[in-house]
Amino acid sequence: MKGIILAGGANTRLHPVTNVVSKQLLPVYDKPMVYYPLSLLMLAGIREILVISTPRDTPKFEALLGDGSSLGLHFEYAVQERPAGIADAFRVGRSFVNGEACALVLGDNILYGHSLPEMLQRASAIKEGAVVFGYEVHDPERFGIVEIGPDKRAISLEEKPTAPKSPWAVIGLYFYDHQVCDVAADLAPSARGEVEITDVNRWYLEKGLLTVEQLGRGIAWLDGGTFDSLHEAAEYVRILQTRQNWRISCVEEIAYRMGFIDLEQLRKNGERLAKSDYGQYVLDLANGESEGGR
Ligand code: DAU
Repeated sequence: MKGIILAGGANTRLHPVTNVVSKQLLPVYDKPMVYYPLSLLMLAGIREILVISTPRDTPKFEALLGDGSSLGLHFEYAVQERPAGIADAFRVGRSFVNGEACALVLGDNILYGHSLPEMLQRASAIKEGAVVFGYEVHDPERFGIVEIGPDKRAISLEEKPTAPKSPWAVIGLYFYDHQVCDVAADLAPSARGEVEITDVNRWYLEKGLLTVEQLGRGIAWLDGGTFDSLHEAAEYVRILQTRQNWRISCVEEIAYRMGFIDLEQLRKNGERLAKSDYGQYVLDLANGESEGGR
């Protein structure tokens, strides 16, 4: 399965912070925001990844992430000329996807918690249909919402409904089979002029091909879309990391634990960053692993 990180948009809610740099490159405590969604694709076992951003910011993502080889990954980059909708990722990325199954993650979505890797790997193993994730929220009118029946199957999907039929938001991480680019290509823009990811999901729902995994209390879903949520996400990461001495979404660690890179590459990655606490963590991990691991 391939993967796309959609990291564009106007980011106007964070002006002036995002006047010259995209939101998804801002720090969430000790690492750029895009590391968090990237780590979700990596944990799902996805190694071929397209990063889509704005004409202004795509070169910056490329400068940060490179070709992916130091993480045992393969990165490509594409420009979205204007924020035409989340489903537009499958139009911009059509040649990259090349008729295969593909996951999409929004560059500002942060997920952390219990049994996440198993859940992601289950989702990326689908042969037919789509998998999305529901998260119970107190402000459902701000999200794509899924109504779920007593048998746990999805009944309806609505984008930012004024009268939500359920508190279950669809988070910004989606797994699709090989049909997704054709589905996105055929969509008409919504009233707000965007091609909606909710319309892609509804296509799968109507065909009986949509699985909704409900995320429970053991999982935190955060985003960095406002000053408060950005600050809270950073604080959440800082508190957990300080308390547990594990880093959240350290992509070098994930690459090593997933078997994408060997110990020597892990150590090289750590050495390159060794002057920061983050780099020191990677280096300590490499040293610990050569002595048998944690
Ligand atoms: O976060 C989950 C929600 O994401 C879902 O529940 C909604 O169904 C989905 O529409 C989306 O809602 P948002 O209100 O968060 O969408 P927004 O337009 O803010 O875009 C989400 C991210 O994607 C944001 O970081 C900007 C980026 N983006 C967005 C659009 C429309 C792009 O890179 N290009 C785009 O064309």
